[in-house]
Amino acid sequence: MSDKREDHNELIAKEFSKQVNYFDQPGTNLCREDIMDWIVDRLPLHPEMVVLDVASGTGILARGMTRFVKHVTALDYTQEMLDKGKSIAARDQITNIEFIQGDAEKLPFAADSFRLVTCRYAFHHFEEYSLKMNEMMRVCQENGWVAVCDIVTENPEMYEKYNHFERLRDPSHTYCLTHEKLQNLFIDSGLLIVRNESRDLSVEFETWYNMGSMSDNLEVKNTIINALENELKGGEKTGMRPYMKDGKLHFLQAINIIVGKKH
Ligand SMILES: C[S@@+](CC[C@H](N)C(=O)[O-])C[C@H]1O[C@@H](n2cnc3c(N)ncnc32)[C@H](O)[C@@H]1O
Repeated sequence: MSDKREDHNELIAKEFSKQVNYFDQPGTNLCREDIMDWIVDRLPLHPEMVVLDVASGTGILARGMTRFVKHVTALDYTQEMLDKGKSIAARDQITNIEFIQGDAEKLPFAADSFRLVTCRYAFHHFEEYSLKMNEMMRVCQENGWVAVCDIVTENPEMYEKYNHFERLRDPSHTYCLTHEKLQNLFIDSGLLIVRNESRDLSVEFETWYNMGSMSDNLEVKNTIINALENELKGGEKTGMRPYMKDGKLHFLQAINIIVGKKH
């Protein structure tokens, strides 16, 4: 693996050993029940299924799927995320899940091991995302499914700008793909797309900003706030689609779920 990608993995571990404190807080977008239902309802889950969730974090989606399938393996690079996931699974008496530390680019599993391979909210943290997709494809069985749910840049013309603001707040952010780039990734991988749906999520700025490792950096925070407020006054677009609600600054994030069949 290149030094650049090894360095990026270290950045990921640093970022998420801090962000872990914000995972599994009831009511947040990461685990809001209606959003979880929206995602889970779009996955081809079956009681006999063996599933891998890549870059699983604390396993919010992985744990959410355990009710519907035989077994879920939750893999993540950041040990602190896995430790939290493990203790929540033990508390909730979920027994058909295991947590494994590893790199999405080098999955520690034999080819054709899983019926369904999922990945939520992580492609925008990957360097060389197609290498991760290749690995997801390799470990997925013939006639199995690969599903990716991630934030996407809603307006392709705002691709660089939108990602610039996301990266200011979280340096481990690489690129949110556009709908088209994500779709092309599936097509280029030889997957038959069986679902492709999007929706907007409302994000409260303060909560979002405080989650990242730059939370103490007021200069960066003000740079983003100024850009969003400037857009609200009719100035240059940021791609973040800001708006005010109950006196608080918000913006819209688009999420896209794509499910493809390996055939
Ligand atoms: C925003 S969190 C999403 C966690 C989880 N999928 C969810 O939806 O709640 C992104 C996760 O990707 C993990 N990650 C990033 N790059 C990775 C890699 N190359 N291999 C494995 N995990 C990775 C991080 O450690 C982090 O837990």
